[in-house]
Amino acid sequence: MDGRPIGFFDSGIGGVTSIPHILRMLPEESVIFFGDTARTPYGSKSPHTIRQFTLQIGDFLVRSGVKMIVIACNTVSSTALDLLRETYPQIPVIGCIAPTARELVKDCPEDAHVGILATRATIRSGAYEKKIHELKPELKLFPLACPALVPLIEEGLADTEIMDLTLKHYLDPFMDENQIDTLVLGCTHYPLVSANLKRLYPGVRLLSSSHEVATAVNMELKARNMLAAKRERENTFYASDLSSNFVDLIEKILGRDKEELDIRFKNLDI
Ligand code: DGL
Repeated sequence: MDGRPIGFFDSGIGGVTSIPHILRMLPEESVIFFGDTARTPYGSKSPHTIRQFTLQIGDFLVRSGVKMIVIACNTVSSTALDLLRETYPQIPVIGCIAPTARELVKDCPEDAHVGILATRATIRSGAYEKKIHELKPELKLFPLACPALVPLIEEGLADTEIMDLTLKHYLDPFMDENQIDTLVLGCTHYPLVSANLKRLYPGVRLLSSSHEVATAVNMELKARNMLAAKRERENTFYASDLSSNFVDLIEKILGRDKEELDIRFKNLDI
């Protein structure tokens, strides 16, 4: 048994979408989340820069005493998963691409046309195609980078006409030309626009990493006998820029008032 918190991080707010799944599945666990809101988006940055930022966050989480690191960001998972595992061999590190790929192939028909929506860095890495094709080589995959989505979501514009127009700009021709029936939301920000996608493209199957990541965390902690016996501390949410959007989105995603939540500023340069 291990009562230390689980460390989660993302380039911004998106990774918070996986936290409710963890808290429901493992209510005894506590979480430290770090969102690098001052430097988001990562998806348009070079692999070198993404790796550098990742190590700063990894150091912060390890210094904070976490028992596990969950990369709640596809961009970092596709660019720096091995680096984190090599740097902190004493701590299990879980990324979000393998769990999502496993979930996709579970009951995906062989003739499905699967669109993979993600940031430029994730698409450039080819990490999704590689993982999915290891499990189901015949599946037809259509990757698409949607770089404008993360900045709009971080601005709190998920629920607006601007977002609908942006989604249509990327997806209208793509869905038609490739006869897409399944969309992998390969960025942890994208579940925040799943209502828009359902409305714009009814009938398309949407798949995100949040639930599967929680299952992977559960299995890994169980296998290592590292589950918490009882809740020992509050969840803490750090951001490198404590904007009102960050606070508002945490309230919305967790369905709790900000006064009840432990939300803090953390400058990684200090
Ligand atoms: N949530 C991150 C992901 O899953 C967003 C990346 C970004 O900052 O561009 O890829």
